Amino acid sequence: MEKSQGVPEAQTIGVFNPLRQPAKPQEYYESIKRKFAEERDLRLRYRPEGTAQYTSELTGALAKYEGDPYGGEIKPREPINDTVECLFVGGGFSALLTSARLREYGVESIRIVERGADVGGTWYWNRYPGVACDVPSYDYLPLLDEMDYVPKNRYAKGEEIYAHCQAIARKYDLYELAVFQTTVTSTVWDEGEQMWHLTTDRGDHMKARFVICANGTLSKPKLAKIKGMESFKGHSFHTSRWDYAYTKEDLSGLEDKVVGIIGTGATAIQAIPGLGAMSKELYVFQRTPSSIDIRDDWYTDPNWARKLQPGWQSKRRARALAEPQLTDEQKAKLAAMSREEKIRRQENANIDHMMRIHQRIDEIVKDKATAQALKPWYMFMCKRPCFHDEYLPTFNRPNVHLIDTKGKGITQITEKGPVFEGKQYELDVLIYATGFEVQKTGIYNQIKGKLGLDLNDKYADGIRTLVGIHSQGYPNLFIMGGYQASFQFNLTDMLQTQGDHIAACIDYARRHGYQSIDATAEAEEWWVQEVIKHRGKTTRNHDCTPGYYNFEGESNRRQDGNYNGGFRQYFTHMRDVRAKMEEHFVFTRK
Ligand SMILES: Cc1cc2nc3c(=O)[nH]c(=O)nc-3n(C[C@H](O)[C@H](O)[C@H](O)COP(=O)(O)OP(=O)(O)OC[C@H]3O[C@@H](n4cnc5c(N)ncnc54)[C@H](O)[C@@H]3O)c2cc1C
Ligand SMILES: NC(=O)c1ccc[n+]([C@@H]2O[C@H](COP(=O)([O-])OP(=O)(O)OC[C@H]3O[C@@H](n4cnc5c(N)ncnc54)[C@H](OP(=O)(O)O)[C@@H]3O)[C@@H](O)[C@H]2O)c1
Repeated sequence: MEKSQGVPEAQTIGVFNPLRQPAKPQEYYESIKRKFAEERDLRLRYRPEGTAQYTSELTGALAKYEGDPYGGEIKPREPINDTVECLFVGGGFSALLTSARLREYGVESIRIVERGADVGGTWYWNRYPGVACDVPSYDYLPLLDEMDYVPKNRYAKGEEIYAHCQAIARKYDLYELAVFQTTVTSTVWDEGEQMWHLTTDRGDHMKARFVICANGTLSKPKLAKIKGMESFKGHSFHTSRWDYAYTKEDLSGLEDKVVGIIGTGATAIQAIPGLGAMSKELYVFQRTPSSIDIRDDWYTDPNWARKLQPGWQSKRRARALAEPQLTDEQKAKLAAMSREEKIRRQENANIDHMMRIHQRIDEIVKDKATAQALKPWYMFMCKRPCFHDEYLPTFNRPNVHLIDTKGKGITQITEKGPVFEGKQYELDVLIYATGFEVQKTGIYNQIKGKLGLDLNDKYADGIRTLVGIHSQGYPNLFIMGGYQASFQFNLTDMLQTQGDHIAACIDYARRHGYQSIDATAEAEEWWVQEVIKHRGKTTRNHDCTPGYYNFEGESNRRQDGNYNGGFRQYFTHMRDVRAKMEEHFVFTRK
């Protein structure tokens, strides 16, 4: 069916075509930009502390928010004292797709160490009602060619994605050496031995020649620091640790409950329709609305799936990542346009898009004040865009109440529930949809390299890597999903690219009889400057409403973000690095 093959809308996001003629006079766009700036400033005034408004140190009374509700009893076992060749910290897609490549290179000794009780990462932890990918599954689920699998829906549900992770682990024999319900707490390089020593919270002491930090971009739950939150006497949990024992699988446990949810990001958007349908009353505490576009999910057409030829996903991926083909006339027009004009036109197209999102809200949400409150006032892609067809209609239900905090957020919780503008909201259950610590390397885990320096101390004055993957002084350590890598709306495209690169580096070292590979100081410095150069090119980060994409509005984080030179450029740089391995790396032999 033609539909299943369409260019995924999500992947064209952000590429607003400067050749498009603006639909309205320039003053119209300028007035909307002024409103965007006012809304951003309002939020920055409410929380000048930036990222410090959150905590992911979930200890003491907050420890319950990151316990594992799915894994069951922790099975007793003897501490492990052994050596493997490749060790992954974390068992999500990063670990799985890189392992698949390593197997293709003939690497036999691969171990995953994972906090959860199985592989899956994001898809192990996030089981909230409505969880699904927001990138078409034919692109998002990795290794579909290798697994000979076609997802059931355009947007696969969490359960199917989790099952896909398990199937990958089975196919590539990754369960054999895997260690679950185990957290790596330290990863220390032994220069004499040229090996990594890892310790865990289960008393293990493992050694590995290569370590891949696959700890996830969004895997450690975070909570907004809200006065009195520990005093709440009702039930509460974080969305990534959904308490089905309380809500029941079908959420029928909420039929007589007054439920509150804090946050309206991508997670809340997916969870709220189910909560609205099943709770006695639902209070949605909103600080900033998300942009909600049409989702248009469908079952995969079996006829289309049957006709797919081997290698279809790789070809689809190559097509999606190919340079857009322009006619000579289009090229000439673009060449004649100044940079300022291009940016202006892209911004105007972006605003037109956001106004279509506003219009959709007016068409769906019946109460005018609620519709108004649900309108996002920022450029598209300042926050992760959301796609949903049931979220907006949920606000037409009589039992669903939007508490719009107009940028301020909930700042107080009592034993009964949240308070806003002097009004107490009495709840039975409070759900935190407040997101995750973002793209940090070494969570729960202290990584010490050649000089005994903690990686995060090395980063104290700014992250330093080569292509976001290698950091000088940390030989045989590879980072996935960290900063200084490219941003991709479909994250698995990026992770696959990194996995291919890492597997190729490991293969190179093995084939040449090298014990270790470490980035040179020059190569690292080149990349840091490349990241800084591209991050300084536009004022977009500064202009956006605060969120995790722009470090909650902290404007001084230039080298700590993603590489903004574009995915194709990132990909090309990685290929160039691999083409001149001896120039970019120092190798040692045992
Ligand atoms: C709800 C949700 C939906 C998402 N949907 C999409 C989507 O539609 N499209 C998209 O492109 N991206 C999406 N993402 C981003 C998603 O995280 C990535 O696409 C991808 O799954 C990340 O894989 P990963 O292996 O890098 O990390 P993860 O899947 O996060 O796995 C990392 C694992 O490492 C483990 N770990 C961390 N530290 C340690 C340690 N010290 N010791 C042992 N184990 C450790 C964690 O427990 C975790 O299981 C979504 C994220 C979330 C939270
Ligand atoms: N496949 C998918 O569709 C999907 C689903 C879920 C998650 N994800 C991924 O995971 C990322 C994280 O999503 P997430 O929704 O879990 O987290 P998030 O995007 O970080 O959202 C956190 C939410 O909490 C709100 N918040 C924080 N403090 C608050 C307070 N004191 N009072 C009221 N609201 C408060 C934030 O408001 P502000 O906006 O004002 O900061 C925001 O709406 C997404 O961006 C996406 O990449 C994808």
